[in-house]
Amino acid sequence: MKNYPNVTIFSHPLIQHKVAILRDENTKMKEFRELIEEITTLMVYEAFKDVPTKRVTVKTPLEVTEQTMVADNAVTIVPILRAGLGMVNGVHTLFPTARVGHIGLYRDEETLEPHEYYCKLPEGIEDSVVVLLDPMLATGGSAIGAIDLLKKRGCKNICLMNIIGVPEGVEAVHKAHPDVKVYVSTLDRQLNEHGYILPGLGDAGDRLFGTK
Ligand code: PRP
Ligand code: URA
Repeated sequence: MKNYPNVTIFSHPLIQHKVAILRDENTKMKEFRELIEEITTLMVYEAFKDVPTKRVTVKTPLEVTEQTMVADNAVTIVPILRAGLGMVNGVHTLFPTARVGHIGLYRDEETLEPHEYYCKLPEGIEDSVVVLLDPMLATGGSAIGAIDLLKKRGCKNICLMNIIGVPEGVEAVHKAHPDVKVYVSTLDRQLNEHGYILPGLGDAGDRLFGTK
């Protein structure tokens, strides 16, 4: 795949190690959920080096000092339902007071087109960095649909975080929304004829919530 300025593919061995366990068909629901959270935290730590900050005054036992902290309401978390829910705690580990909006989209199994069924976003979301979460970036249709909704609400600073993507999905998102920063922990080979990522990890929602 070409290099795009707003697209980051992680190659950190600690992330790759966890993704390898995540993919394994023998990894059970509890461990799968924990790994999704841990990988998300590692990705956010890497991606948010330029998070908005504020200066604060702190009184240590010895003196008063000016220090840096993360700005209030710096980020808003938006998982794409269902599977994006599994990544929320991983962001909250680093941004514990971040507010959460929800976008419900499901992919039609035949056409692979996304269908919206829910959208509830916090007031003032347009003034924060939106961290849009979905473990899987396949055709890119769901991510593009979610970004369309966020932009309609006035969001200008959106970053999409996916655990596994494929080149066609990354390219589709980049083409539709070149201003959106895309972070993918691992880029896989291709989609199969049913729109599943190869080698992938199967259906992320089913593995997170035990529905199959
Ligand atoms: C999965 C996944 C993404 C989408 C990716 O969700 O979590 O949202 O497919 O595919 P795309 O890039 O081709 O749009 P799904 O629609 O299966 O819903 P679920 O999370 O409720 O299982
Ligand atoms: N959604 C998933 O959960 N897995 C895939 O491989 C593709 C889309």
